[in-house]
Amino acid sequence: MRIYKTKDYDEMSRTAANIISAQVILKPESLLGLATGSSPIGVYDQLVEWYKKGDLDFSKVTTVNLDEYKGLPKENEQSYYYFMHEYLFDKVNINVENTYLPDGMNMDSEAEACRYEDLLASLGQVDLQLLGLGHNGHIGFNEPGDVFEKATHCVDLKESTIEANKRFFASADDVPRQAYSMGIGTILKSKKLLVVVSGEGKAEALKNSICGPVTPHVPGSILQFHPDVTIVADEAALSKVPEEYLK
Ligand code: F6R
Repeated sequence: MRIYKTKDYDEMSRTAANIISAQVILKPESLLGLATGSSPIGVYDQLVEWYKKGDLDFSKVTTVNLDEYKGLPKENEQSYYYFMHEYLFDKVNINVENTYLPDGMNMDSEAEACRYEDLLASLGQVDLQLLGLGHNGHIGFNEPGDVFEKATHCVDLKESTIEANKRFFASADDVPRQAYSMGIGTILKSKKLLVVVSGEGKAEALKNSICGPVTPHVPGSILQFHPDVTIVADEAALSKVPEEYLK
């Protein structure tokens, strides 16, 4: 596990964007795994800036997203489809036909989970998967529980996740109660994992993910078992991780 400690959110975003950019430059036809939420917005902004300068070309890139709310149509501003278009897809020269997310409007959970998992299998191994970390230690929408979910599945969101995400909605009642998410097994198949974490509110979850026992009660702890993980986190997020882990 490589851990980069940055001064703040902006430096975290630039560092992570540099890693993604290197991936795309070295392999223009990369399959990138993408995340949504507050953590990667700065990363996408930076990638867009470099694209506009002519330093990056997304024309051969394919992307798959970690998750999507169940029941939100694409045009809903809180859907992850909308988010990805707003922050990245509509601002760079990616071929939108090569961008994939779970279909939140497929109400048949089992069928959608299988469809997305089969799609991922057909696209091959993800070269680089970007991840955020939930306050409760979730990755994707793999919530704390008694087992690590292997494949894409429909998740009942925890109250803590609904609370954390209500900032994007008119009220907590508007936050969908379910989402589709890649499983832990799906995420671990990626060649490389890149995790961005910012802020004191994530410090406990990050400490437990890096230093604690590997347990489904802290889904992020599974990162310890992947052979190629880079964590880019700011000082506040790393404030509870002992120095010896940062060398
Ligand atoms: C989003 C995702 C989630 C978020 C996590 C952190 O696609 O998979 O795991 O990364 O909830 O969210 P933020 O960055 O908003 O704190």
